[in-house]
Amino acid sequence: MRHLAESGRDGAPTFAPVTLVSHDDVVAQCERRWALPLSEPGWGRAWVLVERPPTTYPNDRPKVLGHVDLRGSLVHSGLHRAELSIGLELPARGARHGLRLAQAGLAFARSAGLAYVDLKVFAHNAPARALYEKLGFIEIARIDDLFRMPDGARIDDVWMTLAL
Ligand SMILES: CC(C)(COP(=O)(O)OP(=O)(O)OC[C@H]1O[C@@H](n2cnc3c(N)ncnc32)[C@H](O)[C@@H]1OP(=O)(O)O)[C@@H](O)C(=O)NCCC(=O)NCCS
Repeated sequence: MRHLAESGRDGAPTFAPVTLVSHDDVVAQCERRWALPLSEPGWGRAWVLVERPPTTYPNDRPKVLGHVDLRGSLVHSGLHRAELSIGLELPARGARHGLRLAQAGLAFARSAGLAYVDLKVFAHNAPARALYEKLGFIEIARIDDLFRMPDGARIDDVWMTLAL
């Protein structure tokens, strides 16, 4: 929720088509995906970047600063592919955490025998597109004017894929 609220703020690119989501819905969806084996449509897995509390406050909860997740296809015939998404809170960006998180997700996808990882990224999101290109993703489609945001912005979407 904190991360989504940062979309388009403080000079950073907009990266999500929605900024308001229900916490309970997100938790329920994650639990449903994470409980499924990779042989079942709708599976999901996630990795998080966690900041541990200082040793002076050992009882504080660790803070999640970023995540990468993989979502399997919703149909059996698409289970050789997964869709990747990633995001870090503002203070955690620019320190190679995004690269390492994405590499962790891709390593899992390779070890699981997936054939492709796909993703969608707003065309204007230069940092994310540069990260994906660095990882070997290639652009396969561009959908102009896919989203119209509340502030009137028209968002073009780029679809990318990586053959593993
Ligand atoms: C995209 C995002 C995950 C990158 O993570 P990060 O930890 O900041 O990036 P890293 O430090 O790991 O950088 C890895 C590579 O990404 C690219 N990159 C990262 N930040 C960049 C920036 N501001 N400008 C241009 N390229 C950038 C570079 O290729 C960089 O490699 P280099 O340092 O050798 O040039 C992060 O900016 C983020 O969470 N953004 C908001 C959410 C978002 O846009 N998610 C993607 C939605 S599709």
